[in-house]
Amino acid sequence: EDLGVVAVGFSGGQCKPGVDAAPSALIESGLLTQLRDELGYKLHGHDTVHLYADSVPASDPPYRGMKNPRAVSAVTRRIAGQVYEHAREGRMVLTLGGDHSIAIGTVAGTARAVRERLGREVAVVWVDAHADINTPETSGSGNVHGMPVSFLTGLAREDKEEFFGWLGDENRVSVRKLVYIGLRDVDAAEKRILRENGIKAFSMFDIDRHGIGRVMEMALAHIGSDTPIHLSFDVDALDPMWAPSTGTPVRGGLTLREGDYICECAHQTGSLVAVDLVEVNPSLASANDVGAHETVRAGCSIVRCALGESLL
Ligand code: ARG
Ligand code: MN
Ligand code: MN
Ligand code: MN
Repeated sequence: EDLGVVAVGFSGGQCKPGVDAAPSALIESGLLTQLRDELGYKLHGHDTVHLYADSVPASDPPYRGMKNPRAVSAVTRRIAGQVYEHAREGRMVLTLGGDHSIAIGTVAGTARAVRERLGREVAVVWVDAHADINTPETSGSGNVHGMPVSFLTGLAREDKEEFFGWLGDENRVSVRKLVYIGLRDVDAAEKRILRENGIKAFSMFDIDRHGIGRVMEMALAHIGSDTPIHLSFDVDALDPMWAPSTGTPVRGGLTLREGDYICECAHQTGSLVAVDLVEVNPSLASANDVGAHETVRAGCSIVRCALGESLL
């Protein structure tokens, strides 16, 4: 099977340096070799870690409260093109971030390709401690990694091309085809957005109540069978015990096994078209550096499960 790889060394959607080093750390720990040699994928585009330096302007003052708006818009636009090119060829697409703002590009790319190739709307499974559905106006931080879902669903809109105005209807996803898993740190304004738009969300409360097995059944039932799925996995969905090296850790998260299970179920549908792994930040490690190593290992496990590793 063919796999398009987009390694994104980009951190401009938030303020902590280091998340741009994640693709190299994941690759150096052997992830892509394993996908090729053990899972049998034929890799495309895996030789380069993209830094998009020429898309980052020297001066990038806030716009509508967004930080680094021109850089994030330009970089995600290029990612959308890269992901689209892979998906158009019928390849599954793996994107290694980078912070979660890059999902503006990845989902925009698959949404367009799935429309053109299959005449279908892509569904998005967003695994995260956070909902990342702030609009520029509701965001308290101004960090675009807290806003990707609002731009992708059209809840946030902008005409100016240099501030995400390049996003068109072909790049957007329906709020009805969006499912969250793992939420536990959702801003008050985001809760209102989720409620008013009837967006399906399984919080840690739901996982404790029903178990991850039942939650995945319900999540996939909501999407409907035979629907192409884009899985966007923020490593901070995992409990900091397994993934401490991330910019916005929140206690009370998924075990690594639960995270792997989510990915195995997504793979088992046979409908996965793209997988993102984001927010691994190897520089945010505890004194002895064990945290970074553990987080990279957890990230590799998540990706391998999404691409079919642990099913017999
Ligand atoms: N809700 C907060 C914000 O808007 C945190 C977002 C964290 N997002 C993430 N991709 N880690 O800034
Ligand atoms: Mn998060
Ligand atoms: Mn996120
Ligand atoms: Mn398989």
